[in-house]
Amino acid sequence: MRQSPTPNSHSSIEQSRHLLVTGGAGFIGSNFVHYWCDRYPQDRIVVLDLLSYAGNRRNLEAVEEKENFRFVQGDICDRTLVDALLKAEKIDTIAHFAAESHVDRSILGPEAFVRTNVLGTSTLLEAFRQHWQKRKGKKNENAGGRGNAFRFLHISSDEVFGSLGSDDPPFTETTPYSPNSPYAASKAGSDHLVRAYHHTYGLPTLITNCSNNYGSFQFPEKLIPLMCINILMGKSLPIYGDGQNVRDWLYVGDHCRALDLVIQQGIPGETYNIGGNNEVKNIDLVQMVCQLMDELAPNLPVSPASQLITFVKDRPGHDRRYAIDATKIKTQLGWTPQETIQEGLRRTVEWYLTHQEWWKPLLSEDYQAYYRKIYA
Ligand code: NAD
Ligand code: DAU
Repeated sequence: MRQSPTPNSHSSIEQSRHLLVTGGAGFIGSNFVHYWCDRYPQDRIVVLDLLSYAGNRRNLEAVEEKENFRFVQGDICDRTLVDALLKAEKIDTIAHFAAESHVDRSILGPEAFVRTNVLGTSTLLEAFRQHWQKRKGKKNENAGGRGNAFRFLHISSDEVFGSLGSDDPPFTETTPYSPNSPYAASKAGSDHLVRAYHHTYGLPTLITNCSNNYGSFQFPEKLIPLMCINILMGKSLPIYGDGQNVRDWLYVGDHCRALDLVIQQGIPGETYNIGGNNEVKNIDLVQMVCQLMDELAPNLPVSPASQLITFVKDRPGHDRRYAIDATKIKTQLGWTPQETIQEGLRRTVEWYLTHQEWWKPLLSEDYQAYYRKIYA
């Protein structure tokens, strides 16, 4: 079974890809940059990231000095900047991660989500369309013998499909869109634009809709890092509602392998669902984090950590369950998730334990103000 393409599939210099990775200083984007630099060292990688509160230059420390790597701080809504980068860097592939990504923040203030997720994606699409139309006929620019190897990969979410009941079948690529939060609606809007650019102009786009990622470099506001950090600080562990909401947890390294396959072998115009095959109720997941912390962390302020669990007011419009049917990417591209939730969670908890110098500076005054608003 194919798990990820062999590096030799485009290993010679003239066949190197030139990737623009938007949002590459965020959680999944930075994991993807590390993955790609290790696997395809001959490829050119340009990260375009605004460094919003969720972007962190330190996530890219390990690759900053590489010859083929460039970081640009900037906004995906800045058309002049995007045009200049596509041209100067002879970009053939965009991996588009940049977004406002946190549901709770979208409930506090939806405008930023519409701006970045909808208008930002629209700006990138239009810039890439014009760039592609000028260059698609020119072989040997940087795509070498592969000729027309342009790709626009849009990384999206399972949240666009809405909420499932406990007995509903998982989301497939043909499940109707039914986004419930402003975040999900803005991602749905961006997915529709990407689809339309393929349908109307033939732009070689790909869309992936994935479930909840977890792993290293995830910003403290999301469930797993928040629980790890609060346990280490002896703070309460806020569980929304009754804690019975279900998410399908996907290890970020598995996600990066899937994106690699989609870029190399996905069919333009298609969408692919990516899931971890790990449906877990929130309360059970938090209990697992508590047990791992009890085992791995010496001298916790409160032990056992589960004493800190506190049920709090529910998130407005909180989706009950997400689940992904990943049959298409399994059968067509040969991808399966390799990480079990037990092992992946252990590695993640260990990472937050041993990288306190990474997350402590992120608990800034702005972050505390956000925290008070959400959990007051
Ligand atoms: P993140 O919030 O950790 O990172 C987002 C990055 O985008 C940050 O580095 C931020 O600085 C950058 N950014 C924000 N606005 C920008 C702008 N206007 N211009 C340039 N850069 C900007 O997000 P993440 O969790 O890594 O998610 C990455 C993508 O994957 C998002 O599109 C998200 O919708 C999608 N997704 C995430 C998950 C998940 O579980 N985290 C699951 C499914 C889909
Ligand atoms: O499903 C994919 C989505 O997963 C992505 O598109 C989003 O970008 C990503 O943020 C994530 O969204 P969720 O809302 O599912 O993730 P979050 O970590 O915020 O919450 C996970 C679950 O835990 C959810 O049911 C809400 C709950 N929760 C979350 C927090 C932060 C709590 O009970 N307490 C909390 O403090």
